Amino acid sequence: MIHGGAPEGWLDLSASLDPLGTPPEVAAAIADASYGRYADLDAAAAEEHLARDAGVAAPCVLLTAGATEALRLVAETFGRSRRAVVVGPTYSEYARVAASVGSFVCERRADPPSFVPPIRDALGALRVEGTVVFVCDPNNPTGRAVDASTLRALASAPRRGSLLVLDTSFAPFAAPTCDATELIDGGHVVLVRSLTKRLATPGVRVGYVVASREIVGALRAVRDPWTVGAHAIAAARVARWTLPVEDRATIARWRERLAGGLAACGLAPVPSDANFVLARAPHARALAAALGRRRIAVRDCASFGLPDHVRVAVGPPEAQDVLFAAIAEIGAAAA
Ligand SMILES: Cc1ncc(COP(=O)(O)O)c(C=O)c1O
Repeated sequence: MIHGGAPEGWLDLSASLDPLGTPPEVAAAIADASYGRYADLDAAAAEEHLARDAGVAAPCVLLTAGATEALRLVAETFGRSRRAVVVGPTYSEYARVAASVGSFVCERRADPPSFVPPIRDALGALRVEGTVVFVCDPNNPTGRAVDASTLRALASAPRRGSLLVLDTSFAPFAAPTCDATELIDGGHVVLVRSLTKRLATPGVRVGYVVASREIVGALRAVRDPWTVGAHAIAAARVARWTLPVEDRATIARWRERLAGGLAACGLAPVPSDANFVLARAPHARALAAALGRRRIAVRDCASFGLPDHVRVAVGPPEAQDVLFAAIAEIGAAAA
């Protein structure tokens, strides 16, 4: 699958969800969701809850059908026939949605092996009037995060008509940085938050935007009715953005273990702040294919322009050991 994801019965390390699974209160809310009336599609209470959780006013939140709908709405509303700059290598949807509304898209890429984000380029682009800049933080697929002071600099950089779209869909797995209010107060930042990763619910299609009232109002004005289903609304009503501290610590421990294990297998992991690790691998595509024959999915990163890298989701130690054993077996067979 183009964006990752594996068939039933596979060890799926290609889609980067919370490895601790769906929070029980979210699973219960989805199971109990009522969906027989149009009133079940009233998202107001869910938006109020998410706004309280984010520490912003309710009109600053828009519930969407995943981050995917949020990105589409932002492009439709603010991106028409403009200049779009994407800080890459990154999630391909930014360039796709921007191009689909007639924007001229250019990419500023981080360099291997460290993949430190080229923030100076992003700052420069935001100072050019009328530019939409997409930054993914932490970034997919590199896992690199932007620190708090750099985020503040980015949020205050846009000149008249420029906009920073900050996709923070993997932020719950990283150390906390800035509050949403700090970032959106200037009125030039759209925070995109997928709940898919945080809640481990790719089938539910839920995410949201946090931005100024004016930006959220403009997005709301163009969006189609009823795009967010009753199960997604039920999940959003009880969702929390921040992970419990102990869960974040567990994931950080597992991430270190994964990076160490990949290095021991002869791959070169990139330092990550997310719930996945990018690793340089000789013959990455062949490795992903050989793992696939063993029903283990990792993300071949050729579509990110990184044909010699794979991205591996952080899983529990037992899952990691299955992966390490398979890589060793593949290496031994190739030797
Ligand atoms: C960085 C990033 N943003 C957004 C999405 C899409 O999120 P959603 O499933 O909420 O539409 C993805 C999916 O992989 C992603 O990697």
